Amino acid sequence: MVPMSERTIALVTGANKGIGYEIAAGLGALGWSVGIGARDDQRRKDAVERLRAAGVDAFEVPLDVTDDASATAAARLIEDQAGRLDVLVNNAGIAGAMPQEPTRIDPATIRTVVETNVIGVIRVTNAMMPLLRRSASPRIVNMSSAVGSLTRQSGRAADETAGPVAVAYAPSKTFLNAVTLQYARELRGTNILVNLACPGYVATDLNGFHGVRTPEQGAAIAVKLATLPDDGPTGRFFEDAGEVPW
Ligand SMILES: NC(=O)c1ccc[n+]([C@@H]2O[C@H](COP(=O)([O-])OP(=O)(O)OC[C@H]3O[C@@H](n4cnc5c(N)ncnc54)[C@H](OP(=O)(O)O)[C@@H]3O)[C@@H](O)[C@H]2O)c1
Repeated sequence: MVPMSERTIALVTGANKGIGYEIAAGLGALGWSVGIGARDDQRRKDAVERLRAAGVDAFEVPLDVTDDASATAAARLIEDQAGRLDVLVNNAGIAGAMPQEPTRIDPATIRTVVETNVIGVIRVTNAMMPLLRRSASPRIVNMSSAVGSLTRQSGRAADETAGPVAVAYAPSKTFLNAVTLQYARELRGTNILVNLACPGYVATDLNGFHGVRTPEQGAAIAVKLATLPDDGPTGRFFEDAGEVPW
């Protein structure tokens, strides 16, 4: 077996189920060591066991993306185990309580969704940044959504992927898109590439399994962005078919 120092080390947040689990499986299939970032002890253990049974070099990373101490502890764990981080996939996300019509929304729902989908990404990214800076080819992939595209929300795109009216979830992904652009701007000129992935409409817990794509299909674009070459794009928003309009 290739020693850990020579393997690519990845962390996937929210990797115990859904798209995140399949991203971990996809990166593991490349022979990478994959940290399974998950907040629930049992679900995390079960996911790592399943991935190991499938031949993936998976390891547990206890992580609640809404908790500063948890993110700090996760970085310490990866530092102790691997000494660096090559790829961070910020996949953990929530839809928040529905319905989310703007005229009836409880502002607390918006705060909760933003805390996970936006601030959680910033918190984890910044906790991992010292470890990413030690990598020869660091990559950050943030899991966005078609509903984060203002072009699609406003019906200006040719395709109909606006989803339901959702004033917490959809704008949280627009916010994440804007935040990702700021990271890309700050990190331009470094070797860190940071991009947004749009998985399509995937059957997972998040949407009551109403999605039409499999989690494996949804994971493919994140795996692709996690494996970009050094001259690859940064600060861009991709789905399988190409770039998503902002
Ligand atoms: N499904 C779709 O059609 C779709 C479309 C576009 C974008 N996305 C995005 O894809 C990502 C994955 O969603 P999914 O569809 O795979 O949903 P999912 O099956 O509900 O998985 C979400 C994952 O995020 C984790 N998570 C939530 N809050 C967390 C926290 N505070 N700390 C750590 N982990 C947390 C969940 O852990 P627990 O098991 O502990 O809850 C779970 O592992 C999300 O960012 C979502 O917005 C999904």
